[in-house]
Amino acid sequence: MPEEKEIFFDDMWGELLRGKADSKHAFRYVTLTTIGAENWPSTRTVVLRDVDKETQSLYFFTDKRSTKIKEIESNNKVSLLFYNHKKKLQLRVSGKAVLHTDNKISEQYFEHVRQTDLKDYRTINPPGTALSNGKPEYYNKEKAAEHFMVIQIKAKKIDYLKLDREAHQRILFELNQENWQSTTLVP
Ligand SMILES: Cc1cc2nc3c(=O)[nH]c(=O)nc-3n(C[C@H](O)[C@H](O)[C@H](O)COP(=O)(O)O)c2cc1C
Repeated sequence: MPEEKEIFFDDMWGELLRGKADSKHAFRYVTLTTIGAENWPSTRTVVLRDVDKETQSLYFFTDKRSTKIKEIESNNKVSLLFYNHKKKLQLRVSGKAVLHTDNKISEQYFEHVRQTDLKDYRTINPPGTALSNGKPEYYNKEKAAEHFMVIQIKAKKIDYLKLDREAHQRILFELNQENWQSTTLVP
């Protein structure tokens, strides 16, 4: 990759790492799109939990009974959308999802889930179930681990767009075998 594009590439991963580390960073909240029933795109907000540049991986937590997991199980091709208004930076990530439950990865992350967040994984009925009395009921805390799932998204393609008054910068980064290749695009 040419040096000038390497700078954008490193800057992009740096921003993603900041999104994971800083709860106030714009990249903390990400739009995840999956392909749902009858091929309808299905979109929702999720929290960026971890980033690993070496394995091109972005990590998210969810309840394994949620609709998004059924969708990923039938089609693991997903898309992520990041936007940082202050930096006028948009990233569109295409990748493949790998699901982790009852393994070392899910156990490791589960240890760090905040007590107050455990409720997200211990509703008696799966997320999205219609409620008759308006309030969900919860299992005891032990059940949270059973429902907890880690979504690892391995990026294959990242469309980087930085808006600038003088000239916008758009670069397509694509993973070819083990190497990232870059192509400058018309914004
Ligand atoms: C600010 C915000 C952060 C959220 N973070 C997560 C998250 O990290 N994981 C998750 O599964 N759902 C998260 N949600 C809820 C999802 O957007 C979605 O409503 C829920 O996961 C059900 O989606 P599904 O039916 O497509 O599976 C978040 C919602 C908001 C508004």
